Amino acid sequence: MKVLLVGAGGREHALAWAITASPLCTSLICAPGNAGIAGIADCVPIKAEDIDGLVALAKESAVDFVVIGPETPLVAGLVDRLEEAGIRAFGPSAAASALEGSKGFMKDFCAHHTIPTAAYGRFTDAAAAHDFITEKGAPIVVKTDGLAAGKGVIIAESEAQAHEAVEAMMADKQFGEAGAEIVIEEFLSGEEASFFALVDGKNALALTSAQDHKRVGEGDTGLNTGGMGAYSPAPVVTPEIEAQVMETIILPTVRGMAADGHPFRGVLFAGLMIEDGVATLLEFNIRFGDPECQPLMKRLKSDLLTVLIAAHDGVLDHIDLRWSDEAALCVVMAAKGYPGAYKKGSEIKGLNDANEVEGVDVFHAGTKQDGNKVLASGGRVLGVTALGADVIQAKARAYEAVDKIDWPQGFCRRDIGWRVTGE
Ligand code: AMP
Ligand code: GLY
Repeated sequence: MKVLLVGAGGREHALAWAITASPLCTSLICAPGNAGIAGIADCVPIKAEDIDGLVALAKESAVDFVVIGPETPLVAGLVDRLEEAGIRAFGPSAAASALEGSKGFMKDFCAHHTIPTAAYGRFTDAAAAHDFITEKGAPIVVKTDGLAAGKGVIIAESEAQAHEAVEAMMADKQFGEAGAEIVIEEFLSGEEASFFALVDGKNALALTSAQDHKRVGEGDTGLNTGGMGAYSPAPVVTPEIEAQVMETIILPTVRGMAADGHPFRGVLFAGLMIEDGVATLLEFNIRFGDPECQPLMKRLKSDLLTVLIAAHDGVLDHIDLRWSDEAALCVVMAAKGYPGAYKKGSEIKGLNDANEVEGVDVFHAGTKQDGNKVLASGGRVLGVTALGADVIQAKARAYEAVDKIDWPQGFCRRDIGWRVTGE
Protein backbone atom coordinates (compact mmCIF):
# COMPACT_ATOMS: atom_id res chain seq x y z
CA MET A 1 0.00 0.00 0.00
CA LYS A 2 1.27 3.44 -0.97
CA VAL A 3 0.76 5.96 1.82
CA LEU A 4 0.91 9.76 1.83
CA LEU A 5 1.62 11.48 5.16
CA VAL A 6 0.94 15.22 5.47
CA GLY A 7 2.96 17.38 7.87
CA ALA A 8 6.48 18.37 8.84
CA GLY A 9 6.82 18.09 12.61
CA GLY A 10 8.05 15.70 15.27
CA ARG A 11 4.58 14.18 15.39
CA GLU A 12 4.83 13.35 11.69
CA HIS A 13 8.32 11.84 12.04
CA ALA A 14 6.97 9.54 14.78
CA LEU A 15 3.97 8.65 12.59
CA ALA A 16 6.26 8.01 9.60
CA TRP A 17 8.44 5.77 11.80
CA ALA A 18 5.39 3.72 12.84
CA ILE A 19 3.82 3.63 9.34
CA THR A 20 7.02 2.43 7.63
CA ALA A 21 7.26 -0.38 10.22
CA SER A 22 3.90 -1.71 8.99
CA PRO A 23 3.97 -4.77 6.73
CA LEU A 24 1.10 -3.11 4.81
CA CYS A 25 3.22 -0.11 3.77
CA THR A 26 5.09 -0.58 0.49
CA SER A 27 6.09 3.06 0.17
CA LEU A 28 5.64 6.31 2.06
CA ILE A 29 5.53 9.80 0.59
CA CYS A 30 5.59 12.76 2.98
CA ALA A 31 4.58 16.35 2.20
CA PRO A 32 6.54 18.36 3.08
CA GLY A 33 8.45 16.32 5.72
CA ASN A 34 11.81 17.21 7.26
CA ALA A 35 15.40 15.91 7.29
CA GLY A 36 14.54 13.03 9.64
CA ILE A 37 11.48 11.93 7.69
CA ALA A 38 13.55 12.07 4.46
CA GLY A 39 15.57 9.13 5.84
CA ILE A 40 12.52 6.84 5.72
CA ALA A 41 10.14 8.41 3.16
CA ASP A 42 10.14 10.31 -0.13
CA CYS A 43 9.63 13.94 0.82
CA VAL A 44 7.82 16.24 -1.62
CA PRO A 45 7.99 20.02 -1.04
CA ILE A 46 4.25 20.70 -0.84
CA LYS A 47 3.12 22.48 2.31
CA ALA A 48 0.47 21.04 4.64
CA GLU A 49 -1.71 24.13 3.97
CA ASP A 50 -1.65 23.68 0.17
CA ILE A 51 -4.89 21.71 -0.19
CA ASP A 52 -4.97 21.79 -4.03
CA GLY A 53 -1.31 20.76 -4.22
CA LEU A 54 -1.84 17.84 -1.84
CA VAL A 55 -4.92 16.57 -3.67
CA ALA A 56 -3.01 16.74 -6.98
CA LEU A 57 -0.04 14.92 -5.43
CA ALA A 58 -2.27 12.16 -4.02
CA LYS A 59 -3.89 11.67 -7.43
CA GLU A 60 -0.65 11.78 -9.46
CA SER A 61 1.12 9.39 -7.10
CA ALA A 62 -1.93 7.06 -6.97
CA VAL A 63 -1.69 6.76 -3.20
CA ASP A 64 -3.95 4.26 -1.45
CA PHE A 65 -4.25 5.99 1.91
CA VAL A 66 -3.54 9.45 3.31
CA VAL A 67 -2.68 10.25 6.94
CA ILE A 68 -2.88 13.91 7.99
CA GLY A 69 -0.92 15.10 11.02
CA PRO A 70 -1.73 18.81 11.64
CA GLU A 71 -5.08 20.52 12.23
CA THR A 72 -4.89 23.26 9.58
CA PRO A 73 -5.49 21.04 6.50
CA LEU A 74 -8.16 19.08 8.38
CA VAL A 75 -10.07 22.24 9.28
CA ALA A 76 -9.65 23.43 5.66
CA GLY A 77 -11.35 20.26 4.37
CA LEU A 78 -8.47 18.17 3.00
CA VAL A 79 -10.17 14.90 3.94
CA ASP A 80 -13.40 15.94 2.17
CA ARG A 81 -11.45 16.87 -0.97
CA LEU A 82 -9.47 13.61 -1.00
CA GLU A 83 -12.56 11.46 -0.43
CA GLU A 84 -14.37 13.31 -3.25
CA ALA A 85 -11.43 12.35 -5.46
CA GLY A 86 -11.85 8.70 -4.42
CA ILE A 87 -8.78 8.63 -2.16
CA ARG A 88 -9.11 7.16 1.32
CA ALA A 89 -7.93 9.60 3.98
CA PHE A 90 -7.62 9.27 7.75
CA GLY A 91 -8.90 12.24 9.72
CA PRO A 92 -12.10 14.20 10.34
CA SER A 93 -14.11 16.07 7.69
CA ALA A 94 -14.11 19.89 7.77
CA ALA A 95 -17.49 19.81 9.55
CA ALA A 96 -16.22 17.42 12.26
CA SER A 97 -12.94 19.37 12.53
CA ALA A 98 -14.91 22.32 13.92
CA LEU A 99 -14.46 20.65 17.33
CA GLU A 100 -10.96 22.17 17.20
CA GLY A 101 -11.40 24.80 14.48
CA SER A 102 -14.10 26.77 16.31
CA LYS A 103 -14.04 27.02 20.09
CA GLY A 104 -17.57 28.46 20.00
CA PHE A 105 -18.82 25.42 18.07
CA MET A 106 -17.11 23.12 20.56
CA LYS A 107 -18.59 24.90 23.59
CA ASP A 108 -22.13 24.95 22.14
CA PHE A 109 -21.79 21.27 21.21
CA CYS A 110 -20.69 20.40 24.77
CA ALA A 111 -23.55 22.41 26.28
CA HIS A 112 -26.07 20.73 23.97
CA HIS A 113 -24.78 17.21 24.74
CA THR A 114 -24.08 17.81 28.48
CA ILE A 115 -20.33 17.22 28.24
CA PRO A 116 -18.48 18.66 31.27
CA THR A 117 -16.53 21.79 30.33
CA ALA A 118 -15.96 25.30 31.72
CA ALA A 119 -18.95 27.69 31.76
CA TYR A 120 -18.64 30.20 28.89
CA GLY A 121 -19.99 32.99 26.74
CA ARG A 122 -19.56 33.51 22.95
CA PHE A 123 -19.09 37.04 21.64
CA THR A 124 -18.88 38.90 18.33
CA ASP A 125 -19.47 42.21 20.08
CA ALA A 126 -16.66 43.68 22.23
CA ALA A 127 -18.99 45.67 24.51
CA ALA A 128 -20.91 42.53 25.46
CA ALA A 129 -17.60 40.72 26.08
CA HIS A 130 -16.42 43.51 28.42
CA ASP A 131 -19.72 43.39 30.34
CA PHE A 132 -19.41 39.61 30.75
CA ILE A 133 -15.89 40.01 32.23
CA THR A 134 -17.11 42.66 34.66
CA GLU A 135 -19.97 40.40 35.71
CA LYS A 136 -17.84 37.24 36.17
CA GLY A 137 -14.60 38.72 37.55
CA ALA A 138 -11.07 37.24 37.37
CA PRO A 139 -9.33 34.87 36.92
CA ILE A 140 -11.01 34.30 33.59
CA VAL A 141 -9.94 32.86 30.23
CA VAL A 142 -10.27 34.69 26.89
CA LYS A 143 -9.92 32.67 23.66
CA THR A 144 -10.10 33.40 19.94
CA ASP A 145 -12.79 31.32 18.27
CA GLY A 146 -10.54 30.18 15.41
CA LEU A 147 -7.12 28.54 15.14
CA ALA A 148 -4.27 30.77 16.30
CA ALA A 149 -1.34 28.33 16.39
CA GLY A 150 -1.75 27.78 20.13
CA LYS A 151 -1.45 31.52 20.89
CA GLY A 152 -5.10 32.56 21.01
CA VAL A 153 -5.68 31.72 24.69
CA ILE A 154 -5.15 34.32 27.40
CA ILE A 155 -5.39 33.24 31.04
CA ALA A 156 -6.25 36.59 32.63
CA GLU A 157 -5.31 36.90 36.30
CA SER A 158 -7.08 40.26 36.56
CA GLU A 159 -10.14 41.85 34.97
CA ALA A 160 -7.90 44.51 33.41
CA GLN A 161 -5.86 41.81 31.66
CA ALA A 162 -9.06 40.18 30.38
CA HIS A 163 -10.32 43.50 28.99
CA GLU A 164 -6.95 44.01 27.28
CA ALA A 165 -7.17 40.55 25.71
CA VAL A 166 -10.59 41.38 24.28
CA GLU A 167 -9.18 44.60 22.78
CA ALA A 168 -6.15 42.76 21.33
CA MET A 169 -8.35 40.12 19.71
CA MET A 170 -11.35 42.16 18.58
CA ALA A 171 -10.20 45.76 18.08
CA ASP A 172 -6.49 45.32 17.23
CA LYS A 173 -7.16 42.03 15.35
CA GLN A 174 -3.86 40.60 16.60
CA PHE A 175 -5.02 37.12 15.61
CA GLY A 176 -6.69 38.17 12.34
CA GLU A 177 -10.01 36.52 11.51
CA ALA A 178 -9.50 33.91 14.27
CA GLY A 179 -10.37 36.64 16.78
CA ALA A 180 -13.45 38.09 15.05
CA GLU A 181 -15.42 35.96 17.47
CA ILE A 182 -14.21 35.07 20.97
CA VAL A 183 -15.09 32.71 23.80
CA ILE A 184 -14.73 33.80 27.42
CA GLU A 185 -14.77 31.02 29.96
CA GLU A 186 -14.47 30.14 33.61
CA PHE A 187 -10.92 29.45 34.85
CA LEU A 188 -10.41 25.81 35.86
CA SER A 189 -7.69 24.72 38.26
CA GLY A 190 -6.13 21.28 38.62
CA GLU A 191 -3.61 19.12 36.77
CA GLU A 192 -3.70 18.96 32.97
CA ALA A 193 -3.43 15.78 30.93
CA SER A 194 -3.89 14.80 27.30
CA PHE A 195 -6.22 11.92 26.49
CA PHE A 196 -6.47 10.34 23.06
CA ALA A 197 -9.15 8.19 21.46
CA LEU A 198 -9.38 6.75 17.99
CA VAL A 199 -12.85 7.20 16.53
CA ASP A 200 -14.43 5.63 13.42
CA GLY A 201 -17.70 7.56 13.27
CA LYS A 202 -19.50 5.35 15.78
CA ASN A 203 -16.94 3.42 17.86
CA ALA A 204 -14.20 4.88 20.05
CA LEU A 205 -11.09 3.13 21.23
CA ALA A 206 -9.15 4.71 24.08
CA LEU A 207 -5.54 5.28 23.12
CA THR A 208 -3.35 6.06 26.07
CA SER A 209 -2.75 9.17 28.13
CA ALA A 210 0.18 11.56 28.08
CA GLN A 211 1.25 14.73 29.79
CA ASP A 212 2.70 17.66 27.91
CA HIS A 213 4.83 20.54 29.30
CA LYS A 214 3.47 23.67 27.65
CA ARG A 215 5.59 26.37 29.27
CA VAL A 216 9.01 27.15 27.91
CA GLY A 217 10.81 27.26 31.28
CA GLU A 218 11.69 24.73 33.94
CA GLY A 219 9.16 24.41 36.75
CA ASP A 220 6.42 25.26 34.21
CA THR A 221 7.32 28.95 33.99
CA GLY A 222 7.53 31.43 31.12
CA LEU A 223 5.61 31.64 27.88
CA ASN A 224 3.30 29.00 26.47
CA THR A 225 4.74 26.90 23.62
CA GLY A 226 3.48 24.13 21.35
CA GLY A 227 4.90 21.71 23.94
CA MET A 228 8.43 21.26 25.33
CA GLY A 229 8.22 17.56 26.16
CA ALA A 230 5.80 14.80 27.03
CA TYR A 231 5.61 11.39 28.57
CA SER A 232 3.19 8.49 28.58
CA PRO A 233 1.39 7.09 30.48
CA ALA A 234 0.31 10.01 32.70
CA PRO A 235 -0.29 8.67 36.24
CA VAL A 236 -2.94 11.36 36.89
CA VAL A 237 -5.12 9.52 34.33
CA THR A 238 -5.97 6.58 36.56
CA PRO A 239 -8.15 3.72 35.26
CA GLU A 240 -11.09 5.45 37.04
CA ILE A 241 -10.40 8.75 35.27
CA GLU A 242 -10.03 6.95 31.94
CA ALA A 243 -13.41 5.25 32.41
CA GLN A 244 -14.97 8.57 33.39
CA VAL A 245 -13.48 10.39 30.38
CA MET A 246 -14.74 7.71 27.97
CA GLU A 247 -18.21 7.74 29.57
CA THR A 248 -18.73 11.49 30.06
CA ILE A 249 -16.63 13.07 27.30
CA ILE A 250 -15.50 10.79 24.44
CA LEU A 251 -18.57 8.56 23.88
CA PRO A 252 -21.16 11.37 24.20
CA THR A 253 -19.07 13.34 21.67
CA VAL A 254 -18.95 10.46 19.20
CA ARG A 255 -22.73 9.90 19.53
CA GLY A 256 -23.49 13.63 19.44
CA MET A 257 -21.41 14.31 16.32
CA ALA A 258 -23.09 11.39 14.52
CA ALA A 259 -26.55 12.53 15.64
CA ASP A 260 -25.82 16.11 14.51
CA GLY A 261 -24.96 14.86 11.02
CA HIS A 262 -21.17 15.14 11.04
CA PRO A 263 -19.75 11.86 12.34
CA PHE A 264 -16.19 12.15 13.67
CA ARG A 265 -13.48 9.90 12.23
CA GLY A 266 -9.91 10.34 13.36
CA VAL A 267 -8.02 11.04 16.55
CA LEU A 268 -10.05 12.81 19.19
CA PHE A 269 -7.64 14.49 21.61
CA ALA A 270 -9.25 15.71 24.81
CA GLY A 271 -7.26 18.28 26.79
CA LEU A 272 -8.32 17.61 30.38
CA MET A 273 -8.16 19.44 33.68
CA ILE A 274 -8.29 16.97 36.55
CA GLU A 275 -9.10 18.02 40.09
CA ASP A 276 -10.31 15.94 43.03
CA GLY A 277 -10.78 12.86 40.86
CA VAL A 278 -12.96 14.63 38.31
CA ALA A 279 -11.92 15.35 34.70
CA THR A 280 -13.29 18.41 32.90
CA LEU A 281 -12.77 19.07 29.21
CA LEU A 282 -10.56 22.10 28.47
CA GLU A 283 -10.51 21.70 24.71
CA PHE A 284 -10.78 19.23 21.88
CA ASN A 285 -8.12 18.73 19.26
CA ILE A 286 -8.81 16.62 16.21
CA ARG A 287 -5.37 15.06 15.74
CA PHE A 288 -2.48 13.59 17.67
CA GLY A 289 -0.71 15.98 20.03
CA ASP A 290 2.80 17.14 19.26
CA PRO A 291 4.94 16.13 21.23
CA GLU A 292 2.51 13.64 22.86
CA CYS A 293 2.44 11.52 19.68
CA GLN A 294 6.16 10.72 19.96
CA PRO A 295 5.92 8.78 23.28
CA LEU A 296 2.62 7.25 22.15
CA MET A 297 4.20 5.80 19.02
CA LYS A 298 7.12 4.42 21.02
CA ARG A 299 4.64 2.58 23.29
CA LEU A 300 2.24 1.33 20.60
CA LYS A 301 2.79 -2.35 19.83
CA SER A 302 -0.11 -2.80 17.40
CA ASP A 303 0.40 -2.04 13.73
CA LEU A 304 -0.47 1.67 13.36
CA LEU A 305 -1.48 1.52 9.70
CA THR A 306 -3.91 -1.38 10.28
CA VAL A 307 -5.50 0.57 13.13
CA LEU A 308 -5.83 3.82 11.14
CA ILE A 309 -7.40 1.96 8.20
CA ALA A 310 -9.87 0.27 10.59
CA ALA A 311 -10.80 3.70 11.97
CA HIS A 312 -11.34 4.99 8.43
CA ASP A 313 -13.43 1.94 7.47
CA GLY A 314 -15.67 2.09 10.55
CA VAL A 315 -14.54 -1.26 11.98
CA LEU A 316 -12.70 -0.23 15.14
CA ASP A 317 -14.88 -2.64 17.12
CA HIS A 318 -12.73 -5.43 15.62
CA ILE A 319 -9.48 -3.92 16.87
CA ASP A 320 -7.72 -4.62 20.13
CA LEU A 321 -4.84 -2.26 20.78
CA ARG A 322 -1.63 -3.45 22.40
CA TRP A 323 0.66 -1.07 24.31
CA SER A 324 4.05 -1.60 25.82
CA ASP A 325 4.01 -1.70 29.63
CA GLU A 326 7.07 0.49 29.48
CA ALA A 327 6.97 4.28 29.74
CA ALA A 328 8.15 6.70 27.07
CA LEU A 329 9.37 10.27 27.39
CA CYS A 330 10.16 12.93 24.78
CA VAL A 331 12.40 15.96 25.37
CA VAL A 332 11.92 18.72 22.80
CA MET A 333 15.04 20.61 21.72
CA ALA A 334 14.18 24.06 20.42
CA ALA A 335 16.11 26.92 18.84
CA LYS A 336 17.23 29.56 21.39
CA GLY A 337 14.63 32.33 21.46
CA TYR A 338 11.62 30.03 20.88
CA PRO A 339 8.67 30.64 21.34
CA GLY A 340 9.76 34.20 20.43
CA ALA A 341 12.07 35.06 17.53
CA TYR A 342 14.83 32.55 16.77
CA LYS A 343 17.48 32.02 14.10
CA LYS A 344 17.40 29.30 11.47
CA GLY A 345 20.26 27.52 9.74
CA SER A 346 22.55 26.39 12.59
CA GLU A 347 24.12 22.95 12.21
CA ILE A 348 23.13 20.04 14.47
CA LYS A 349 25.75 17.35 15.12
CA GLY A 350 25.84 14.17 17.18
CA LEU A 351 22.49 12.82 15.98
CA ASN A 352 23.86 9.34 15.24
CA ASP A 353 25.42 9.04 18.71
CA ALA A 354 22.15 10.16 20.30
CA ASN A 355 20.18 7.60 18.30
CA GLU A 356 22.46 4.83 19.57
CA VAL A 357 21.47 5.29 23.22
CA GLU A 358 19.37 2.29 24.25
CA GLY A 359 15.64 2.78 23.69
CA VAL A 360 16.11 6.18 21.99
CA ASP A 361 14.82 7.59 18.71
CA VAL A 362 15.52 11.19 17.83
CA PHE A 363 12.46 12.43 15.94
CA HIS A 364 13.05 15.52 13.82
CA ALA A 365 10.69 18.51 13.81
CA GLY A 366 12.16 21.73 12.33
CA THR A 367 15.16 20.35 10.43
CA LYS A 368 16.37 20.37 6.86
CA GLN A 369 19.11 18.51 5.04
CA ASP A 370 21.93 20.53 3.46
CA GLY A 371 24.33 18.14 1.72
CA ASN A 372 25.44 15.86 4.54
CA LYS A 373 24.59 18.42 7.23
CA VAL A 374 21.38 18.66 9.24
CA LEU A 375 20.33 22.27 9.87
CA ALA A 376 17.76 23.72 12.26
CA SER A 377 14.87 25.24 10.30
CA GLY A 378 12.15 25.81 12.90
CA GLY A 379 11.35 26.67 16.52
CA ARG A 380 10.88 23.19 17.87
CA VAL A 381 13.67 21.24 16.18
CA LEU A 382 14.08 17.74 17.68
CA GLY A 383 12.06 15.37 19.88
CA VAL A 384 14.49 13.08 21.67
CA THR A 385 12.26 10.16 22.68
CA ALA A 386 13.12 7.17 24.86
CA LEU A 387 11.42 4.05 26.09
CA GLY A 388 12.31 2.76 29.56
CA ALA A 389 11.04 0.41 32.26
CA ASP A 390 9.45 3.45 33.92
CA VAL A 391 9.41 7.23 33.50
CA ILE A 392 12.62 7.54 35.55
CA GLN A 393 14.55 5.27 33.17
CA ALA A 394 12.96 6.75 30.05
CA LYS A 395 13.95 10.22 31.27
CA ALA A 396 17.53 9.17 32.06
CA ARG A 397 17.93 7.68 28.57
CA ALA A 398 16.35 10.68 26.84
CA TYR A 399 18.71 13.14 28.59
CA GLU A 400 21.72 10.86 27.95
CA ALA A 401 20.86 11.18 24.26
CA VAL A 402 20.23 14.95 24.53
CA ASP A 403 23.72 15.33 25.97
CA LYS A 404 25.23 13.65 22.89
CA ILE A 405 23.67 16.25 20.60
CA ASP A 406 26.10 18.98 19.70
CA TRP A 407 23.97 22.04 18.93
CA PRO A 408 25.00 25.18 20.85
CA GLN A 409 22.16 27.21 19.29
CA GLY A 410 19.52 24.94 20.86
CA PHE A 411 18.08 24.43 24.32
CA CYS A 412 15.70 22.14 26.17
CA ARG A 413 13.96 21.92 29.53
CA ARG A 414 15.85 19.60 31.90
CA ASP A 415 12.78 18.71 33.98
CA ILE A 416 10.48 16.87 31.58
CA GLY A 417 8.51 14.31 33.59
CA TRP A 418 8.97 16.18 36.90
CA ARG A 419 5.49 15.33 38.17
CA VAL A 420 6.54 11.67 38.18
CA THR A 421 10.25 11.83 38.92
CA GLY A 422 10.01 14.74 41.34
CA GLU A 423 12.84 16.91 39.97
P1 AMP B 1 -6.21 25.61 24.56
O1 AMP B 1 -5.58 26.20 23.33
O2 AMP B 1 -7.69 25.78 24.64
O3 AMP B 1 -5.69 24.23 24.79
O4 AMP B 1 -5.59 26.36 25.80
C1 AMP B 1 -4.20 26.38 25.99
C2 AMP B 1 -3.89 26.21 27.45
O5 AMP B 1 -4.55 27.22 28.20
C3 AMP B 1 -4.39 24.91 28.05
O6 AMP B 1 -3.50 23.87 27.86
C4 AMP B 1 -4.51 25.29 29.51
O7 AMP B 1 -3.24 25.26 30.14
C5 AMP B 1 -4.97 26.71 29.46
N1 AMP B 1 -6.42 26.81 29.56
C6 AMP B 1 -7.33 26.83 28.54
N2 AMP B 1 -8.59 26.95 29.02
C7 AMP B 1 -8.50 27.03 30.36
C8 AMP B 1 -9.45 27.17 31.42
N3 AMP B 1 -10.75 27.27 31.19
N4 AMP B 1 -8.98 27.19 32.69
C9 AMP B 1 -7.65 27.11 32.94
N5 AMP B 1 -6.71 26.99 31.99
C10 AMP B 1 -7.11 26.95 30.71
N1 GLY C 1 1.01 19.45 22.58
C1 GLY C 1 -0.28 20.00 22.48
C2 GLY C 1 -0.87 19.99 21.15
O1 GLY C 1 -0.43 19.29 20.26
O2 GLY C 1 -1.85 20.69 20.93
